[in-house]
Amino acid sequence: MNNRQLFLRHVAQLSDAPLGLEIVKASGMYMWDADGKQILDLIAGISVCNVGHSHPAVVQAIKDQAEQYMHLLVYGELVQSPQVAFATLLTQHLPASLDCVYFTNSGSEAVEGAMKLAKRYTGKTEIIAFNNSYHGSTQGAMSIMGDEGWRNAYRPLLPDIQHLEYNSFESLDSITSRTACVVAETVQAEAGVRVPQKEWLQALRAKCTATGTLLVLDEIQCGLGRNGTLWAFEQFGIIPDILLLGKALGGGMPMGAFIANREMMWVLTNNPVLGHMTTFGGHPVICAAGMAGFKVLLEQDLISSVKAKEQLFLKYLQHPAIRAVRSLGLMIAVEMESFAVNKKVIDYCIDKGMLTDWFLFAPECLRIAPPLIINEEEIKQACDMILEAARTVA
Ligand SMILES: Cc1ncc(COP(=O)(O)O)c(C=O)c1O
Repeated sequence: MNNRQLFLRHVAQLSDAPLGLEIVKASGMYMWDADGKQILDLIAGISVCNVGHSHPAVVQAIKDQAEQYMHLLVYGELVQSPQVAFATLLTQHLPASLDCVYFTNSGSEAVEGAMKLAKRYTGKTEIIAFNNSYHGSTQGAMSIMGDEGWRNAYRPLLPDIQHLEYNSFESLDSITSRTACVVAETVQAEAGVRVPQKEWLQALRAKCTATGTLLVLDEIQCGLGRNGTLWAFEQFGIIPDILLLGKALGGGMPMGAFIANREMMWVLTNNPVLGHMTTFGGHPVICAAGMAGFKVLLEQDLISSVKAKEQLFLKYLQHPAIRAVRSLGLMIAVEMESFAVNKKVIDYCIDKGMLTDWFLFAPECLRIAPPLIINEEEIKQACDMILEAARTVA
């Protein structure tokens, strides 16, 4: 059997039509398949490879740390310098109230940790989330997922959860003194890039403060520069009580984090002791990789050009087949007439050497979330291909 057949036989599948491209190398903006075909990556492993594939600084940091030490002991016992250095660097770039980092292996685990922390800290149980939000596939994270179709397939899930309409002022009335936390994406990604009104996020912040509810902002997909500022919440003039990070956090390696105030995080240390445990969260090699990626992001000033790059996409992406384009920074949804049309456009692009896909709750929208290093020529090339596909198939 060839690799593709073995893949279909032995690797668990989540759809009956996986892409099944066999990638043998990836670097910067590009991937190469087993036949040597070059593929422009327009989605960065779904908002992961912000500094590009296999950035040399990240690769070097992994090699150096692997030679020093890899796994030592479960989370939170030993002083491991890569963990300490990365937590310190992250908190130096965050508001003073977000000064304590709990590293996890994934975004979903960051969501789980934050929900547990909110329950413990507030002594309350109700959790509120929003329709069309995606926070991960573990059972807790899935309980707050904003789609009944997925939730219903896995019931019973966590009790005492409400889903509200995102960006609706009326919905805020449902947040009360019973609510432990509200979990919201600062910008909804899988809904097809839904940017909330600034006033709405500010009203949400105010309602949480008034009711003693913790505001948990999920920036797992939109954080770390993708929206044009280091943290998306900066653009809305609010500060969350707990910030969730993941995806690009590990520089291409698996990592998440929930970040809160030191005093709040302290509730995980007693009654019971070891209130949230992980064997591998904050792994030294991953922390070294994440720190190297974070430094590239800052030192190469990759974020300051994000908005100009977004504008280029918006300028080029004009065609009658494109119904709307929604964006914040390099998180862009290109809305087509239907999933059927979008799928044809996507398949055309992939066939011609450019990887893109659609959004979980907006299958009619084509996803643009490239590495932030994408240059003007590549943006033009990507848009030309989308337009060519639209002309050919739509
Ligand atoms: C906004 C958001 N939150 C949470 C997650 C879950 O992260 P992970 O897949 O690392 O568990 C995702 C993943 O796509 C996401 O987009």
